[in-house]
Amino acid sequence: MSAEVWMDEKKLTDTNLVIKEIEKYSMKWFTSIGFLWWDISIHPWIFEILNSAKNNNFKEISVITNAMVFDDHDKALKLIKSWVTRVNISIHSYKSKVEDYLTQVNWWLLRKLKAIDNFNDLHNKGILKSALAINIVLNWKNYKDIIETCIYFYKEKNIYDMRLNFIWPRYFTSKKDREDLFLKYSDFLSYIKKLIYLSLKLNIRITFDSIPACIFYKIDNKNYKKLVSKFLWESFDKIEEISNINKNLVFDWKKQKKDDLKVKFESCNKCIYNKVCEWVRKEYVEKCWSVEFIAIKNEKWIT
Ligand SMILES: C[S@@+](CC[C@H](N)C(=O)[O-])C[C@H]1O[C@@H](n2cnc3c(N)ncnc32)[C@H](O)[C@@H]1O
Repeated sequence: MSAEVWMDEKKLTDTNLVIKEIEKYSMKWFTSIGFLWWDISIHPWIFEILNSAKNNNFKEISVITNAMVFDDHDKALKLIKSWVTRVNISIHSYKSKVEDYLTQVNWWLLRKLKAIDNFNDLHNKGILKSALAINIVLNWKNYKDIIETCIYFYKEKNIYDMRLNFIWPRYFTSKKDREDLFLKYSDFLSYIKKLIYLSLKLNIRITFDSIPACIFYKIDNKNYKKLVSKFLWESFDKIEEISNINKNLVFDWKKQKKDDLKVKFESCNKCIYNKVCEWVRKEYVEKCWSVEFIAIKNEKWIT
């Protein structure tokens, strides 16, 4: 079973709280754990946290990171020697103009590429268990190049595991960012088709997040079931529980994700994917027509 521990994004997450969560999941017989949100790589007690995961019998320990510090090979090695079995690097383009704009840090692309080389080296030497994966946030600035980007990471960096997260506009601080980066499903539709083709042709694992099932129906209304099961909600990444620590409120993240952060339309109730589909982000619906989303039922559109 797999759990994810979300570190608070605004303040340093208390080490004891993280360790307590690790112990809690261990007692519930979880064997896989991931750390995300606030970047664990710059937590001052990162190795105590990872050591606790190892001592609590977690077999798969994964880290999602902006890779800021891992352009240093020794640091990458130290991370992997602390029993981390899988690393995902957040990277959104192979062009420094785009990556550095999106991250607002000069030279970050070059540093991330170096970090990729470091983790690849550790994987090739058998020190890092799983092959390196990348996470791309799909947005207005990078979507037109997305095919070239995936080909670049596959051919130049030997990456064959790519997670494409459709942008969530909630966390942008300025109105301008929100407007500059906002992307519509209808604009991205033709690229999904090309990405599916690329994935099948090159045997790269490409999965999408935050794209509703009915968008896949629009791409191919005959083979959509196969496409949905291969490209959405894959069992490999299945997270059974999410712990959001450092919040005063105890809440059910999965429930909040559906009830508060996402929108379900009347028609969704009639859709065959009603139970599994993660629906559409609220901010998206505020900007776009709900008519983009229609229930899939008995192989026909039901409006
Ligand atoms: C929340 S981040 C945090 C982990 C780590 N600090 C990092 O930067 O990689 C984990 C993943 O969420 C995704 N993500 C971040 N901001 C996003 C946004 N606005 N919309 C959609 N996905 C986003 C990225 O793909 C990232 O790899």
